[in-house]
Amino acid sequence: MVQKESAKRLFSLLGQLLDRVRRAGSEKVFRPLALAEGDSWTIPEQPRPVDQVWQWSMSQVFEPGMNGVTGRHLAYIPGGSLWDAAFAEMVAAMLNPYSALEGVNPGAVRIENQILDWLKAVVGFPAEAAGCLVSGGSLAHVVALMAAREAIQLKPEEIPRKVVYFSDQAHHSFEKALKVLGLDTVKKQKIPTDANFRIKISDLKQQISADLDAGYQPWLLMASAGTTNTGAIDPLEALAEVCKSSELWFHVDGAYGAPFRLCPSLAPALAGLERADSVILDPHKGLSMPFGSGCALVRKGQYLQAANRFEAAYVQDAVVQESRSPADFSPEFTRPFRAFPLWFCLQIHGVSFFRSALEEKRALALRAYEWAGQQDEFWLGPQPDLSVITLRYRFQRLDLDQGNRRLAEIMRQDGDFFISGTDLPIGFVLRIAILTHRTTWSDVLGCLQALLKRGRELEDQLA
Ligand SMILES: Cc1ncc(COP(=O)(O)O)c(C=O)c1O
Repeated sequence: MVQKESAKRLFSLLGQLLDRVRRAGSEKVFRPLALAEGDSWTIPEQPRPVDQVWQWSMSQVFEPGMNGVTGRHLAYIPGGSLWDAAFAEMVAAMLNPYSALEGVNPGAVRIENQILDWLKAVVGFPAEAAGCLVSGGSLAHVVALMAAREAIQLKPEEIPRKVVYFSDQAHHSFEKALKVLGLDTVKKQKIPTDANFRIKISDLKQQISADLDAGYQPWLLMASAGTTNTGAIDPLEALAEVCKSSELWFHVDGAYGAPFRLCPSLAPALAGLERADSVILDPHKGLSMPFGSGCALVRKGQYLQAANRFEAAYVQDAVVQESRSPADFSPEFTRPFRAFPLWFCLQIHGVSFFRSALEEKRALALRAYEWAGQQDEFWLGPQPDLSVITLRYRFQRLDLDQGNRRLAEIMRQDGDFFISGTDLPIGFVLRIAILTHRTTWSDVLGCLQALLKRGRELEDQLA
């Protein structure tokens, strides 16, 4: 069989793959796409040699754009992808268990529930909470909103009178999730944030009163445990109180920040997370899993179950009494065995590995903030709540927004450090997001030094 021969060759390429990952760490972190000549992009009727496809994939698919396996990836919210997790993902894909139903692959379901229990403990949720693993934070918002909707048995005609609150720093995927679920005709109330980009409690309370006076029904608050822009953590404990007194569903976006609850030093900042009605968190961010790993957790697990549980005659043989089959808690049915990579890595590295990696990233961010603060050329955003720092080069001869946008472009063309920018009330700022397990102090320092050097050069060109 053709597949047998090519499979042998493919597995012999795994050694090359490991070398590639090792080498990639010291290669450019961003390369433009230079299209290859010929018909390589077309789908052939007849097979191509495996080696040719491999070479072509490496040079045309994986080299251009962002290099995802270097510690110098400091843009957006960077992912990591541990080798061990990638290996476990491949094992799961090769053996292809059906992890949706306990009656089909009980071992896989047991592992998945163990991982969900562990993630529940990470955020401080009780045993009756439930969750599901999905592809990422965007889908996790959808799942959490499904449970929130179920909890009040929301009827279509009631939607326009409901109010949903979130800050002006919330990730757009939350609003998108409302839209996906046909809930975007709720009154969406963006609450301003303070100088640290945390939701202003007084404004929120005022808005709730105003909405009640106007005959609206406050329904749900979405808080951020680590915004994408600056890593700000909303005041979760105070927000939990507001939600309790105003009977709001308390939903927390911890896609980026929730895993930091593993770090004792960050427990005070994240206090109140455990009081949420639902939390999302992404193992493909702070836990270094390959992309495709998100999680939604719901305090009262019965709402998640009620929103997702269906029966079907054709799977009656797979039904197990008192089951915790993932299919009963998730909008997905057939899906990858997402729990296995995280379970495998927790087994072979222990929780301490993940805890110390996150502690280290947090320490690097604080050190970077301090170092940058000593340079007269930099304006700095607020002290980081987690591991994102924002800064601008203080150009004297250039418009600050234009100058910093240009600086971001130059950094990307240089390809040594991959950073991103965003808009804050002060204007355009550069962001350094420290999260991948590969990032070291020399990466962060190198990036700051490159920004200083390139900023000075830009300024000098106009002298
Ligand atoms: C705070 C926050 N929430 C939600 C998301 C969406 O997650 P995903 O890209 O996994 O869908 C992101 C993505 O970066 C994020 O940073």
